[in-house]
Amino acid sequence: MDAATHLLATDLDGTLVGDKYSLQALFNFYDNQTYEVSLIYITGRHYQSALSLITEENLPVPDVLITDVGTAIYIGDSLEQDLAWSQHLEQSWLPQKIDTVARQIPGLVSQELPITNRCSYYATDETVVEAFRTALDQAEISYKLIYSGGRDVDILPAGSGKGQALQYILNKYQLDEAKLLVAGDSGNDTEMLTLGFPSVIVGNAQPELLEQQKHPSIYRATNSYAGGIHEAWRYFYTK
Ligand code: GLC
Ligand code: MG
Repeated sequence: MDAATHLLATDLDGTLVGDKYSLQALFNFYDNQTYEVSLIYITGRHYQSALSLITEENLPVPDVLITDVGTAIYIGDSLEQDLAWSQHLEQSWLPQKIDTVARQIPGLVSQELPITNRCSYYATDETVVEAFRTALDQAEISYKLIYSGGRDVDILPAGSGKGQALQYILNKYQLDEAKLLVAGDSGNDTEMLTLGFPSVIVGNAQPELLEQQKHPSIYRATNSYAGGIHEAWRYFYTK
């Protein structure tokens, strides 16, 4: 990872994954380049669920796997957990308190996940999400709330999220010189897409991402899924 020259930092569901033909075409294209592209997967899924997807879709094992909307990081061939990152986040993290608040909000349904490094719920009504935010503020809990796809409500430790986890990896391995493309399709990708690096919103993105202000470093692809990543890679790096 230290010597990486080219990096793809991508969300999985709805971004890299979604169309197997364009996925194959993207990796064939990468195989035909003179350089190697290191992979960072950044997903909302928890570790086991991300591994299942990697197996089901026959995806290359990444150099870095960031799971749980940026609250856990796994590195290297054996995907070992980055404990410095988890310990840093655990310091002011109160999942039980968050769950207690959540149970008092009508319309908020727990995702019943097997992990505690984030608290995730379902809500289809935005006023429910705002009521939850107000209740968390009143309880003086430190948190970051991310609403995506008009359905998923993720409560994360304040210093985490996909953007902050990606930035942590770029700093850790001093990758500021590498050619990087960041790719996403929904609200939980916003923070990483707006870090200021070359980024792509794939053609099939959720409305909440399309509402993002236009910015020169954020390319809006016409093509969907991996086809959008491929289109943006050409736009930024093979002119
Ligand atoms: C993935 C996760 C889910 C999370 C959502 C949004 O779908 O499985 O738990 O809420 O991403 O981040
Ligand atoms: Mg997605």
